[in-house]
Amino acid sequence: MTTNQYIKRAVSILNTGGLVAFPTETVYGLGADARNDAALAKIYAVKERPASHPLIVHLADISQMQDWASVITEEALLLARTFWPGPLTMLLPKKAHVSEVVSGGQKTIGLRIPRHPIAQSLLQAFGDGIAAPSANKFTHVSPTYAKAVYEELGDQVDLILEGGDCEVGLESTIIDMTSDAPVILRPGMIGAEAIASVLGMSLTGCSNQRVPGAHPLHYAPNTTTILLAADQIAKQRREGDTVLTIKNLGETPELYAHKLYKALRELDNQQFARIIVEDVPLTPEWEAVRDRLSKACMRKL
Ligand code: TXA
Ligand code: MG
Repeated sequence: MTTNQYIKRAVSILNTGGLVAFPTETVYGLGADARNDAALAKIYAVKERPASHPLIVHLADISQMQDWASVITEEALLLARTFWPGPLTMLLPKKAHVSEVVSGGQKTIGLRIPRHPIAQSLLQAFGDGIAAPSANKFTHVSPTYAKAVYEELGDQVDLILEGGDCEVGLESTIIDMTSDAPVILRPGMIGAEAIASVLGMSLTGCSNQRVPGAHPLHYAPNTTTILLAADQIAKQRREGDTVLTIKNLGETPELYAHKLYKALRELDNQQFARIIVEDVPLTPEWEAVRDRLSKACMRKL
């Protein structure tokens, strides 16, 4: 089948309440018609995710924002025009008709226009919002390639669209635009400084606490994973451990983020005693990577 034929099939699955996993530039998403509560319920069931964790609605075009958000400020529009399509999710007050199932009971709705060409084609062909969390089981590492989606969810998904390795590799930056002072709730590769300079204001500190999905066990491999400063690795390494260094993945945050989840997933599939991860620099451009590493390293410490 050609890509076009796959997109057509995906649209017909979404229209009949099914689930389609699709690539975005961040991670693969598990998609359903955002207006179909029964289809949305399947997302929660397949992921084994609590109903209080809202889903991001993916759109093809800025003009669709008003279908979902009741208030779109100048600032929100400015961010949309600057960073979309791309790895940014904005929380806006939701329209009254938008289902509580998609918003996880919140009065806000997360919106994002992804830039991966397959996500774009799918969204354009579907013509309305597609709700999609990352296509992994609750608390697992997000999938950044199609085979990883299959490893996570198997045949519980009606179709997995193949789109290669995700370019960015970490989930989108989430910014709450529902008050006068925008707050970053989940750091991503679009950093606070870039957003602040577009808005012409400084952002109040990133508070991860407020995102329902900022669960302490998010993004964690099953293998015990520990974060160590470079000079501690030789001292603490034991037989059976494996070490993931900055050199292994890439010297810039972009290269590193692109490869991180695949590396964690592949190491997790082997029988190592522990995964030791070399700590990354404390500079702002590494913030999203540091955030995911600190979560990956919380289990079994
Ligand atoms: O890059 C991404 O954002 C990917 C791709 C597929 O777009 N999606 C993604 O979705 O990471 P998910 O559900 O795995 O993570 C979204 C996080 C969750 O922790 C969720 O609770 C939070 O965002 N979230 C979404 N909408 C929200 C809302 N209205 N209020 C508070 N938190 C929200
Ligand atoms: Mg997720």
